[in-house]
Amino acid sequence: MCGSTPTVVETGRTLIVGSTGFIGRFIAEACLDSGRPTYILIRSSQTSPSKMSTLKFLQDKGAIVLHGSIDNRELMERILKEHKIEIVISAVGGERVSDQHVLVEAIKAVGTVKRFLPSEFGHDIDRADPVPPGQIMYNEKRKVRRSIKAAGIPYTYICCNSIAAWPYHDNTHPADVLPPLDHFKIYGDGSVKAYFVAGSDIGKFTLKAIDDVRTLNKTVHFQPSSNLLSMNELASLWEDKIGRKLPRLTITEDDLLAAANEMRIPESIVAALTHDIFIRGCQINYTLNSSKDVEICSLYPETPFRPVDECFQDFVTKALGVANVVENKPKGKDGILATNSKPAEALVITAQCA
Ligand SMILES: NC(=O)c1ccc[n+]([C@@H]2O[C@H](COP(=O)([O-])OP(=O)(O)OC[C@H]3O[C@@H](n4cnc5c(N)ncnc54)[C@H](OP(=O)(O)O)[C@@H]3O)[C@@H](O)[C@H]2O)c1
Repeated sequence: MCGSTPTVVETGRTLIVGSTGFIGRFIAEACLDSGRPTYILIRSSQTSPSKMSTLKFLQDKGAIVLHGSIDNRELMERILKEHKIEIVISAVGGERVSDQHVLVEAIKAVGTVKRFLPSEFGHDIDRADPVPPGQIMYNEKRKVRRSIKAAGIPYTYICCNSIAAWPYHDNTHPADVLPPLDHFKIYGDGSVKAYFVAGSDIGKFTLKAIDDVRTLNKTVHFQPSSNLLSMNELASLWEDKIGRKLPRLTITEDDLLAAANEMRIPESIVAALTHDIFIRGCQINYTLNSSKDVEICSLYPETPFRPVDECFQDFVTKALGVANVVENKPKGKDGILATNSKPAEALVITAQCA
């Protein structure tokens, strides 16, 4: 399929930027599953093995691969025109957010894109206010929002909150890592709640929203009440899965601010956002404004969100796939229990895999 567009249907042509990235791969997969003609823009052909395997997976599912970077305006205009792109979804990483200004110019010049979803996929950046360097990234994302508005481009902002995984304060992609097997680091008193959403649901619900008239020029908030958990609750859930209690260490507000203040990128950005979520409560301390916000569950009440319990069961399965499996032999403090079975009957695996 690479580079060619044989018999692509005319409607719903969707271009995804950043499809080999952490969030973008969920969006691209959901787009292909929805049956839309799916174009993916790939910046470089020389990339990591994991990105290569994502690319192959998407190509095998029918993605049409285009090469280039969104900061090349002439190329972007050509792509949008030649392929009659109706919807553009960007999932460029935090450090490349400002590349989107050129894409916005290209979308404006072409004038045929019906909806643009810029790289958001986190908090409502006009409400949340993390300390630097999180604030610096948010300022860049805010500038992109302003240029979309100024250009009069139809948009939807996806605020999907946190990914369903252990929220490590120094890891940009926590869903790629197992929850702790030695001890938990709990932010503050561990009681502040956040929304934990499965990556596949970020993709699935984003795709539902992209041509829904109710989300036109709106901010879409992912607030499934079933997925609203505190760190203490998340820790207990994982303890149930592994069949044992883990020590809980407190990471104070000052610890998080110090980690943010180190200005190590991207770790310090994650620390700043972690502070905003689990100390300040940025996901839960505001009310929606019906003139500019919509809540995703109210739009699609018939479609359930994947429970956090199920997502954490995936981590057990993942651990089983890579660890040394030993049946019915508890391994002491490093053992992890493969539930949903009774502890006495469960498999126990060693846990070098974290
Ligand atoms: N809610 C959450 O829990 C959560 C977690 C992480 C991120 N996010 C947000 O999700 C968004 C995506 O972040 P991410 O971490 O998924 O990013 P990522 O893993 O760094 O992936 C970024 C992707 O964008 C591509 N890209 C970057 N610049 C490009 C350009 N100029 N032209 C074309 N492609 C380009 C990269 O391609 P290459 O392979 O060529 O570099 C890569 O495929 C960000 O807005 C981020 O803040 C949310």
